[in-house]
Amino acid sequence: MIKVGVIGIGMMGSTHLDIYSRLKQARVVAISDIDPDKLSGKARAKGNIEGQAQGLFDMAAVRKHDEGMKLIADEEVELVDICLPTPLHMKYARAALKAGKHVMVEKPLARTRREADILAQCAEEAEAAGIFSMPAMCMRFWPGWDWLKAAIVKESYGRVLSAHFRRLVTHPATGFYNSGEECGGALLDAHIHDTDFVQWCFGMPQSVSSHGYCKITSGVDHVFTRYDFGSGGPMVTAEGGWAMAGGFPFTMQYTVNFEKATAVYDNAAEAPLTLYRKGRAEAISLAEGMGYDYEIPYFLDCIRKRQPPATVTIADGARSVRICAAENASVLKGRAVRV
Ligand SMILES: NC(=O)c1ccc[n+]([C@@H]2O[C@H](COP(=O)([O-])OP(=O)(O)OC[C@H]3O[C@@H](n4cnc5c(N)ncnc54)[C@H](O)[C@@H]3O)[C@@H](O)[C@H]2O)c1
Repeated sequence: MIKVGVIGIGMMGSTHLDIYSRLKQARVVAISDIDPDKLSGKARAKGNIEGQAQGLFDMAAVRKHDEGMKLIADEEVELVDICLPTPLHMKYARAALKAGKHVMVEKPLARTRREADILAQCAEEAEAAGIFSMPAMCMRFWPGWDWLKAAIVKESYGRVLSAHFRRLVTHPATGFYNSGEECGGALLDAHIHDTDFVQWCFGMPQSVSSHGYCKITSGVDHVFTRYDFGSGGPMVTAEGGWAMAGGFPFTMQYTVNFEKATAVYDNAAEAPLTLYRKGRAEAISLAEGMGYDYEIPYFLDCIRKRQPPATVTIADGARSVRICAAENASVLKGRAVRV
């Protein structure tokens, strides 16, 4: 039984708490938030996807700390789960690792490339001492996206010729999301999910060419990127943004063209993941749930087996922040940027 402390009881903290409440292999012993209403459960954050952050966790039964560092110092806590605003990830994750606690940290791993690299270094040192950490890059665990990764690795339908990813949402309009400086715009906050998935499937791009605009924050609120994998590599693009008008559904999609089939998935549509091949459309059945339901048990299992996470590492999280920084620079410079 792994004893967990969750810092930051906003939307993602509430999402993680729901999941822990269903697991036998872990028990949340402490939570922390600087907002007394979040800490008491009086104010419950809501999810942006149906079924997320339903408030299933009983907050009455756990120790409460009014600041994240106090939770890190809580002797009973073995795993610190960091669901804080992005600019705080590096400071709190580093402190927890230095205190000898395992760490799960929400995405993006850190606000800047420099902070992400510092954290990657800390994680490497901690791992040598048997302390594990993992960034919550949930798309690597998301039903439908895990199917795509397996199809790419196994070359089930031949090589990938082209892949397009799309993630379009409305702006959360709350807290640190209102500051482009703090959240990094939709480019770092939302689009990084696709950047990370592209990295996982195809490796590091040589360069990126991005276009984008600001509408709500001072950051890039809508971006379109071409990832360059050199001659002979797949043609890969991704579009991400939160500048859509109110009422626009939470949308994540991909269209991947293999040599022998085409896969199309759109979470907002009624249609299932569809594989087109040999003149037919085949519906692919998927596991229930969201990526969060799988990433947390996976990390708990790594800790239990004393095996460092492999599906996603802190170094992977740092590489995704680096690619996003290049995409941001490409938008600002109006030209391709080497990664
Ligand atoms: N994986 C995903 O799909 C996903 C989705 C949304 C957000 N996120 C990421 O999760 C992180 C949190 O996002 P959110 O939407 O939950 O934010 P949020 O603003 O809803 O919650 C953050 C909470 O942290 C608390 N907090 C701030 N400083 C603190 C401190 N020093 N000690 C203790 N608590 C403190 C705030 O009071 C707030 O309740 C962000 O990095 C965001 O990018 C990930």
